[in-house]
Amino acid sequence: MILAIETSCDETCAAVVEGSHIRSSIVASQAALHRRYGGVVPEIASRRHLELVGPAVREALEQAGVTFADLRAVAVTAGPGLIGALLVGVSAAKAYAYAAGLPLIPVDHLHGHVASLFLEPAPLQPPFLCLLASGGHTLLLDVQDHVRFSVLGQSLDDAAGEAFDKGARLLGLGYPGGPAIERAAAGGDPTAVPLPVAMAGRDGLDLSFSGLKTALRTRLADGAYAPADLAASYQAAIVASLVTRTRRALEQTGARRLGVVGGVAANTSLRGALDALCADCGIELRCAPLALCGDNAAMIGAAGEHLEFVEFPDYLAIDAHPRSAVMAN
Ligand code: KG4
Ligand code: ZN
Repeated sequence: MILAIETSCDETCAAVVEGSHIRSSIVASQAALHRRYGGVVPEIASRRHLELVGPAVREALEQAGVTFADLRAVAVTAGPGLIGALLVGVSAAKAYAYAAGLPLIPVDHLHGHVASLFLEPAPLQPPFLCLLASGGHTLLLDVQDHVRFSVLGQSLDDAAGEAFDKGARLLGLGYPGGPAIERAAAGGDPTAVPLPVAMAGRDGLDLSFSGLKTALRTRLADGAYAPADLAASYQAAIVASLVTRTRRALEQTGARRLGVVGGVAANTSLRGALDALCADCGIELRCAPLALCGDNAAMIGAAGEHLEFVEFPDYLAIDAHPRSAVMAN
């Protein structure tokens, strides 16, 4: 069993995983704390992580019905993310590992998102194509095995989740933007407002969302559209952009399986559109379970299972890093 800790952004998470089985997964969201600022305030996030990480770990062990003596290792997100927030998790993980005499496993947050597909109820076996859409990243990945990926395409500017968040702010819908836009879009007409489906460099697999946000601002200034129609059309444009790129990646790679992960993977409209795409192409589709789309520590433990364990004192040199090391290839 592995104890995992995740504090890269505004959720303080701890989990105990055993292979693909989740024994416990605690997610203490700070969203309410950041809402009034319209986004995550890094310093506030770090301080809150400091308060919550101990209780989250205790709760994870308790719910799993285990003690430190039952564990093989402590896994922790070392990056990418907010540096102060990451440092709280990494320092806590080192302390727990040292006190319990366990090795430490530094995990890349994006690797973690991919690994949310390695967990129950239906673990997905690599190789597969993976669409990772979160608040910080939008990537199309060729997942070769449990630890090796290559980046086929990525957003050249805003991430898909960031597009949702910025759009929600423009529409006055609050934070986090994805769920807010999804709710506001429910009664709207996705074809009512003309918005561009952005394609960065038509031939490749890269994406772009910043132009879409600008277009929304312009349409909003027109003053001619109902809020629900604006939200529905904006959501539809993001989804269309993701689905078009994913279709092309499937065609180019000949992949037979598609995995979808990250906060944006919780979007019902995106899940539906990818479902239709995969039914059309005869592709096996696996979206991460809703509880594992957003940030959580179970996925960090799942990634850790396949990585090298670092022993004392070597792990003391492990540092938090704001950018992804795994995805640099
Ligand atoms: O993976 P995640 O929890 O954190 C990062 O690693 O960034 O993703 C958070 C992002 C936010 O931008 C949030 O607005 C978006 O995921 N998100 C959604 C939905 N739920 C969360 N976007 C669209 N529809 C949703 N239902
Ligand atoms: Zn994330």
